[in-house]
Amino acid sequence: MEYKMIGPEHSDQVIEHLRHNFFADEPLNKAAGLCQNGSSCAELEDHCAEAIHHRMSVMAVDVKDAGTCKIAGVVLNGILKPDDTAKALEKLDSSGDAHFRKIFEMLHRHNLKHNLFEHFDVESMFDVRILSVDSSYRGQGIANELVKRSVAVARKNGFRLMKADATGIFSQKIFRSNGFEVFSEQPYCKYTDENGKVILPVEAPHIKMQLLYKAICGDEQDD
Ligand code: ACO
Repeated sequence: MEYKMIGPEHSDQVIEHLRHNFFADEPLNKAAGLCQNGSSCAELEDHCAEAIHHRMSVMAVDVKDAGTCKIAGVVLNGILKPDDTAKALEKLDSSGDAHFRKIFEMLHRHNLKHNLFEHFDVESMFDVRILSVDSSYRGQGIANELVKRSVAVARKNGFRLMKADATGIFSQKIFRSNGFEVFSEQPYCKYTDENGKVILPVEAPHIKMQLLYKAICGDEQDD
């Protein structure tokens, strides 16, 4: 497996990978019925393209004998500034995709309630936004390696803080084994509408979203 930085030239291939592996499989997308496997989702694609634009994302590529390449996994990372989440929440008002709005409203509102910028006194954060591994390559440690490499990218670029909204128990385990700690949690059964109905009925074994963080010290090295 080769691990490479993702550039704008890889965007189409990365989006194609996500359409077949992340869009339908990620626990919140699945709960909201965001899209079918292989189909496109314009707003989620814009969200991914924005992260790619920051040039801090990494992909795992399987180079086959004939020289052809297949993306086995990606981690899309972006830079987050203090006003970004409030602006993104505001922008959701004009979203035409009710499923996308449901998911991102929950994530943005949670992040606004638990202000990591103030807590850690930082002006920007390295935001791990999308972690996705092709279903035929799962269980081989690829996601773990992508997160590990993201930590190295964050360190190299001088970030003091990383964050991630991990939506399922497997991604939560992966972040924790890379030194991330839980800052706050949103149990899915407690995210309800005015009638007490669960807004995102996420399937077991996933029961909560975790906002995780990792403080980076300049002299420390990761394994
Ligand atoms: N069942 C049991 N354990 C699992 C599973 C599973 N389905 N998936 C991962 N794990 C465990 C592994 O056993 C391993 O534990 P270990 O280190 O104790 O051996 C650990 O999690 C790391 O596993 P990896 O092999 O590195 O994970 P993988 O490459 O399979 O990718 C991922 C995991 C990214 C969650 C993949 O299943 C996926 O793409 N799912 C759909 C999209 C998704 O949910 N992404 C995360 C959303 S959060 C975010 O994007 C920030």
